[in-house]
Amino acid sequence: MAPAFFIYQQLFKYILDYFTFAKLKLNMYMRLHKNMKMADLVHKNYLLVPVMNRFGIHLGFGDKSVKEVCKEHDIDSGFFMEIINSFHEPKYYPQFDLETFPLPLAIRYLSNTHKSYLEQRLPEIEATIGEILETCQINKENILLLRNFFLEYKSELSTHIDREENVVYPYVTKVFENYKSEVIDIEFIQNMISYSIVDYSNEHDNVEEKLYDLKNIIIKYLPPLKRQVLLNKILFELFRLETDLNDHTMLEEKVMIPMVLLMEEKLKIRAKMDSKG
Ligand SMILES: [Fe+2]
Ligand SMILES: [Fe+2]
Repeated sequence: MAPAFFIYQQLFKYILDYFTFAKLKLNMYMRLHKNMKMADLVHKNYLLVPVMNRFGIHLGFGDKSVKEVCKEHDIDSGFFMEIINSFHEPKYYPQFDLETFPLPLAIRYLSNTHKSYLEQRLPEIEATIGEILETCQINKENILLLRNFFLEYKSELSTHIDREENVVYPYVTKVFENYKSEVIDIEFIQNMISYSIVDYSNEHDNVEEKLYDLKNIIIKYLPPLKRQVLLNKILFELFRLETDLNDHTMLEEKVMIPMVLLMEEKLKIRAKMDSKG
């Protein structure tokens, strides 16, 4: 009797643990909504702070709800929550409607994200590598190797961002302006044949891939250092950058491209009808 009781007791404990874990996991990824307090969003996931910053929203929101803070900043709260949830829940795909999609706000958000990579994230990582180099006496060549690899990555990401800022986003904005305008610019529609969002979709390369190699150099090959804490800091920053970039790329590929593709198609139809009429 006793062993059977013990088995049942253990079984019950496992089931209880399983449900507690499932509940915790559910709570972790609970869908966030605009009636929640802005402060609670940060309590749920502190990594959302830089995402809020890119909308021009900064800490110190007191007890205001998401809706109230967005209103103060003249931001579409529906769009804001879709971006927040897509960042918070890795498997969440934001839902938008073509007619109400605030494309200029989306472009502003994506551009601010680029800015944060170029002006904060990458310089911070570079400075930490420099700090290690200044203080390490042995294994210096390994750190130099890491720095070279990082600088290569930085240059690749900068080129990628440059192209989007100077070619892709201005093009996307032009498509949106034409789509919203009563009168369409025929010359622009004709030029869409030589460059369209499909070209961008084909040329859009994966900027996260090389980060994996960079992380692996630290995880697998760098021997222990005196300033190991700094090396850990770089590794955590690279993981954070990778998560952020994944979300950024998802917005470009799964939201911006399909929306612009639809606008282009509708513009072509309108241009055809205009030429017949
Ligand atoms: Fe981008
Ligand atoms: Fe991109």
